[in-house]
Amino acid sequence: MWLYLAALLGLYFLRRWYRERQSVEKLTEKYVFITGSDSGFGNQLARQLDARGLRVLAACLTQKGAKELERVTSDRLKTTILDVTSTENVAAAAEWVKGCVGNKGLWGLVNNAGIGIPAAPNEWLTKDDFAKVINVNLLGLIDVTLHMLPLVRAARGRVVNIASVYGRLACIGGCYCPSKYGVEAFSDSLRRELHPFGVQVIIIEPGVFRTPILNNVEDNFWKAWSQAPSHIKECYGQQYLEDLCRSCQLLCKGASSDTYLVTDSIEHALTTCYPRTRYSAGWDAKLFYIPLSYMPTSLADSVLTYFMSKPDQAV
Ligand SMILES: NC(=O)c1ccc[n+]([C@@H]2O[C@H](COP(=O)([O-])OP(=O)(O)OC[C@H]3O[C@@H](n4cnc5c(N)ncnc54)[C@H](OP(=O)(O)O)[C@@H]3O)[C@@H](O)[C@H]2O)c1
Repeated sequence: MWLYLAALLGLYFLRRWYRERQSVEKLTEKYVFITGSDSGFGNQLARQLDARGLRVLAACLTQKGAKELERVTSDRLKTTILDVTSTENVAAAAEWVKGCVGNKGLWGLVNNAGIGIPAAPNEWLTKDDFAKVINVNLLGLIDVTLHMLPLVRAARGRVVNIASVYGRLACIGGCYCPSKYGVEAFSDSLRRELHPFGVQVIIIEPGVFRTPILNNVEDNFWKAWSQAPSHIKECYGQQYLEDLCRSCQLLCKGASSDTYLVTDSIEHALTTCYPRTRYSAGWDAKLFYIPLSYMPTSLADSVLTYFMSKPDQAV
């Protein structure tokens, strides 16, 4: 019985391995549009796909980022400036992409742009703090997708959305986790809607990686604390803030610097004939966050709060 099960499992993985090795044809004629290509995963992915011969259309937030990316890549790669929170910007970028791809359509849309702060215990933040993050990470992603979909449909291409393990398990306060849960939900419904058109929607769930998004997280805790009303400060106490900063330092120290685990997953999603629906990237994602997200809530809560200090006025 166990032997039979093991053989079935072996066959399943063998078949998956074989299917996933098959690459899409004529990759050098395929266009891929990436948001947030100034730094981090987006920047690395743009360089990686360019080196593989794909036609990369890289959207950067700043002129400086675009110039620097052009300097280190081939003439095939083109850049544009895009702030995903501005619908005018997004519409202009969609027109630019349309002009670049012609009737070939857009093979890949990689929604990568994102921000991590303001993040802090929820009570320390304001509605504007929440809006700032959701505008980039979720509404920006939705706006870009809606504008680009006709082009992706024309190519029977792929939408790759960069979510996070924090879209499976809400480990921090603020809008980062809600925005990534939103990315998961939007991607799920979009996947089912676009399936009949031959368009695939893929979700990338990275663990914690050392990229510029982790910069200033600690400073932002101090800022949120300093702006919090005095009754909130009394409830939590300064020790809570200091412990929070210490946990953040530990998290950043433990963050993986192997960002290729993420960009290789995105590359695979764009180039294999049979992409997965979800890719979890990083050992922390595979061994901790994703398994914990399937556990009973009470267990996940106990694990996640184990290292947290108690607020001054905890009962
Ligand atoms: N690093 C991690 O641990 C991790 C884990 C899970 C998921 N992610 C996700 O991965 C994605 C990429 O993040 P990263 O880690 O590579 O960090 P990153 O280096 O900060 O990349 C984010 C990119 O988005 C750009 N950006 C910010 N606001 C924008 C806006 N309004 N419009 C257009 N572009 C904007 C940034 O431009 P500037 O550089 O000019 O600010 C930057 O190029 C994000 O969606 C993030 O949530 C990261």
